[in-house]
Amino acid sequence: MQVRECSEQDALSLWAAIPEFAESADSAKQKCAERLPGRKPVFLAAFDGNAPAGFAIAYERDNDNSLYVWMTGVLPGYRRKGALTALMNHVEEYARKQGHAKLKIRTRNERREMLSFLVAEGYDVLSVEARANTKDSRINLEKTF
Ligand SMILES: CC(C)(COP(=O)(O)OP(=O)(O)OC[C@H]1O[C@@H](n2cnc3c(N)ncnc32)[C@H](O)[C@@H]1OP(=O)(O)O)[C@@H](O)C(=O)NCCC(=O)NCCS
Repeated sequence: MQVRECSEQDALSLWAAIPEFAESADSAKQKCAERLPGRKPVFLAAFDGNAPAGFAIAYERDNDNSLYVWMTGVLPGYRRKGALTALMNHVEEYARKQGHAKLKIRTRNERREMLSFLVAEGYDVLSVEARANTKDSRINLEKTF
């Protein structure tokens, strides 16, 4: 897997193709327009050969020395081939170069593959935001370099 910076549009196309997110490219674009201006976003895509396999979007959410990984996903046909690992390694390298000292991420109880990755990679759980349906509860994690 190769990871490169990509355009916002390329990241949005991948986002819209991840079934779990059930998001249209237009709606994803709207979310980006609401959230990203002025926050130094970075758009990354993972490639298996020439084929796009996954994406990540990170930005400076908090006024501290962290980078927030907002969205990431891998197309079903490319999972378990190291795409997320490659994306997150690249995000971490990018964050270090930008002078950040940690990555933050927020995920849901139901995203077990993501949680497995984050626990295996040494992320700490900071807090849990409870939702009526426990599977929807949000989990905030961070990794300090
Ligand atoms: C979570 C997701 C991005 C993982 O992508 P991936 O490219 O398959 O992940 P990788 O191949 O890099 O796997 C890295 C590690 O994650 C964990 N992991 C990934 N998929 C897993 C699964 N199905 N079961 C258990 N652990 C899993 C493992 O620790 C794995 O390491 P290993 O293969 O050495 O055991 C992908 O499943 C996905 O897009 N899911 C839907 C969207 C989503 O949940 N996005 C995250 C929202 S915050």
